[in-house]
Amino acid sequence: MSSDLTAEPTYHAVLESYYRCEKSEGCFGTFYELFFGKSSEIAPRFVDTDMERQKQIVGASLLWMLRLGRGDPITWQEVVKLAQSHSRQGHDIPPHLYSLWLDALCNAVERHDTEYTPELESQWRAIMEEGIDLIVSKYEPQKKQSSCETNSSFWLSL
Ligand code: HEM
Repeated sequence: MSSDLTAEPTYHAVLESYYRCEKSEGCFGTFYELFFGKSSEIAPRFVDTDMERQKQIVGASLLWMLRLGRGDPITWQEVVKLAQSHSRQGHDIPPHLYSLWLDALCNAVERHDTEYTPELESQWRAIMEEGIDLIVSKYEPQKKQSSCETNSSFWLSL
């Protein structure tokens, strides 16, 4: 499926679905309500959050996630920033919560997109999974190669 991500039909189908959801009343409110209901681990992380602002920002970040497969370096940097803010040193979001995030997002799309189909949901999932993989890959601090490791890989490559 990942080779399809930059394909125009998939990208445009999800982008159009995004705009239909954004236009419909309260889509991001529905999303957070559903997300909070997925696990008791989630809501406490947002106790000090201005949720009205959060609902506005998450929409913009979905567009970055959506465009990631198109290979634009600025989009990639924006998703890396999200990865850094959600990493162990930032909001400290454990990787297992991302599948709940994606389920809640798809449930919200199902409620708010009048043209929802199971096939459209698979397209949403395929596109978002690429960004989620990138974010999760940066959860733990990146290990720097020691000079010893660098030297041994040099000798091993001979
Ligand atoms: C790919 C999926 C996700 C996207 C696109 C996303 C997007 C965002 C954005 C745009 C922000 C505000 C800017 C920032 O702090 O970087 C944010 C903050 C936050 N996110 Fe996520 N998020 C995702 C997954 C999750 C998950 C799975 C959780 C788990 C509970 C989570 C919890 C939080 C928390 C606690 C904040 C800080 C809220 C505050 O400022 O008080 N996020 N997220």
